[in-house]
Amino acid sequence: MKIFDFPLIHLPQTESTNSHLKEMLKNESPIEGTVVFAHEQTKGRGQAGCNWESEPGMNLIFSMLLFPSHIAVEKQFILSKIVSFALVDVLNDIQPGFCIKWPNDIYYGDSKIGGILIENEIEDNRICSSIVGIGINVNQTAFMSDAPNPISLKQIIGHDFPVAILMVMICEKLHDTYNESAIPLKIKRIEKRYGDLLYRGNGYHSFWDKNGEFTAAIVGVKPEGYLMLQTAKGDIRQYLFKEVSFTPPHV
Ligand code: BTN
Repeated sequence: MKIFDFPLIHLPQTESTNSHLKEMLKNESPIEGTVVFAHEQTKGRGQAGCNWESEPGMNLIFSMLLFPSHIAVEKQFILSKIVSFALVDVLNDIQPGFCIKWPNDIYYGDSKIGGILIENEIEDNRICSSIVGIGINVNQTAFMSDAPNPISLKQIIGHDFPVAILMVMICEKLHDTYNESAIPLKIKRIEKRYGDLLYRGNGYHSFWDKNGEFTAAIVGVKPEGYLMLQTAKGDIRQYLFKEVSFTPPHV
């Protein structure tokens, strides 16, 4: 199925495309695959309650509705893997070098080009709906927020890239990868490719947890989302989002 087979709602301005889809879920019966994209968000939301900065018309900001009943609640991180893998696969076709910084930031070198905000509704231990919000910096070249390391596609490839075309490329890849995720063998392949695309996925690096700095290698990401690190002594440590950092804490 092609993305053009699904409802595509374009909003000149909205608080947040995720919030808009959430309202639609309450008041209408949007079908799976519905996409809401916006020229401008007035209250764009990022991970951990942060704002998501996006200059009007410059970037890709959209949300897609999924009903992933085939994914068990305790394995819901698989959805993050599917989405981040699909994003990086598309971006790497434009310019090689993109990777996934666990849990689901999209990176080029040490800079962040995009992020994902997935909001699941859970009932009877099943995911009944999932709003997948995606923000990719496309043509913006100056960033006002205090995000430490933003970058855009334009800054990487040296010229503008059409936002709508990027959205179609991503939605199509997302549909394909999501459909594959119902097939156990294919899901294993997606998990493997997610692992291969991880930022600092090879060799030993510095990490910081509540006890300070340590050196470790990434050895995997569990279906529940835990980052698995192996220290030089061979100990395995597992962390959830915000329990470990790739950079020193701010002083
Ligand atoms: C992150 O903090 O890295 C996640 C950013 C997700 C931003 C996107 S933009 C479209 C969608 N609507 C929102 O309000 N947030 C997501």
